[in-house]
Amino acid sequence: MTQDLTFRLAKSSDFDKILKLSEGIYNGGDYLPARFHTWIKMKDVYVMLAFSGEKLVSLVVCSVVDEGMTVVYRAARTLPEFRDRGILTQLGEAMHAFLQKKHPSVHRRRCIRVKDRDPGANYKWKTLARREVLSCCVKKATLRSQQIATINSAEIKSCSEGYLCDILFSPRVAQKLFPDNVIHLDLGLVIEPVRSNLDYLIQENGDSVYFAVEKLPDDALPRSVSFGMLSQRVKFVRWAASIYSSDPVLYQAHLVHQFKRACEVIEGNFTFQSYHDLAFANCGKIVLKELLETKLDEEIIQNFEYLFEEKLPVHHSRV
Ligand SMILES: CC(C)(COP(=O)(O)OP(=O)(O)OC[C@H]1O[C@@H](n2cnc3c(N)ncnc32)[C@H](O)[C@@H]1OP(=O)(O)O)[C@@H](O)C(=O)NCCC(=O)NCCS
Repeated sequence: MTQDLTFRLAKSSDFDKILKLSEGIYNGGDYLPARFHTWIKMKDVYVMLAFSGEKLVSLVVCSVVDEGMTVVYRAARTLPEFRDRGILTQLGEAMHAFLQKKHPSVHRRRCIRVKDRDPGANYKWKTLARREVLSCCVKKATLRSQQIATINSAEIKSCSEGYLCDILFSPRVAQKLFPDNVIHLDLGLVIEPVRSNLDYLIQENGDSVYFAVEKLPDDALPRSVSFGMLSQRVKFVRWAASIYSSDPVLYQAHLVHQFKRACEVIEGNFTFQSYHDLAFANCGKIVLKELLETKLDEEIIQNFEYLFEEKLPVHHSRV
């Protein structure tokens, strides 16, 4: 359906209108309000708005990553009464056209969705990766802290940015750790294992991002890594752990390590989320339910996130 829409980049004074777009999203789990001011200040993050007359009706957020090659769509919102009229599609086209001027090197867009796309129905999208997501609610008062303290995750330790770049992102390690050549993080972020992306991640998250690796003799190459990210949602706080390893024992150790780290960092209750290889679905459930005694979120107990990629078409700017 054709709409008389105008498009522009967001300013900090748009915040109140943006809160309207966030109302009711993900049962209080929306990250947009808490991230908005950071995003609009950051280089290489763009928040674009669509107006019908004076009314803000839709928003899209994207980040330019992978040394300027990729645009990742991070968030999209359309007011409920304006949905399914092609507004986000038009806003996406406006964003593409803007990016072609601003970042001519961008030639693909990536986004994460919770449902697979049928490649036959929409041939322009290619599925690059699929990860399983487990989620649980952690009530600090009922956690048996002594038990948590004695669970062994001692083979895992925090790791520095420098180690991540120099060792884990070196081709011979990265090819094994990240076979799809992407790191799938919370808040819709997908990055390739390169230094500039790490700078980006730290710029966006500051101290709220945490890296961990297994303990090793000096000359050994790591076989696992995990990324922990703390994020404020409208009604709660989330710790999301992305774990990369093909070894089930190391996977389990990272899961416990990230969980313990979240318990140390967060004072009150929180939700804990783990993104991992499909092979570890059962192992992850057992750790969270039986070892850590948390209650899994049944609604998304068998949830997947799919990463899609589309080659970008050429558009003429409407902004
Ligand atoms: C998703 C949403 C923004 C779509 O807005 P809309 O204006 O109704 O979208 P359109 O009428 O243009 O619908 C089609 C486009 O929406 C996009 N879309 C639909 N559902 C989507 C979803 N869950 N995630 C991301 N994009 C989605 C697709 O790009 C689709 O284009 P396609 O034909 O290439 O598949 C809207 O339904 C919404 O605000 N939902 C609640 C928030 C949400 O789920 N956001 C997405 C993830 S952050």
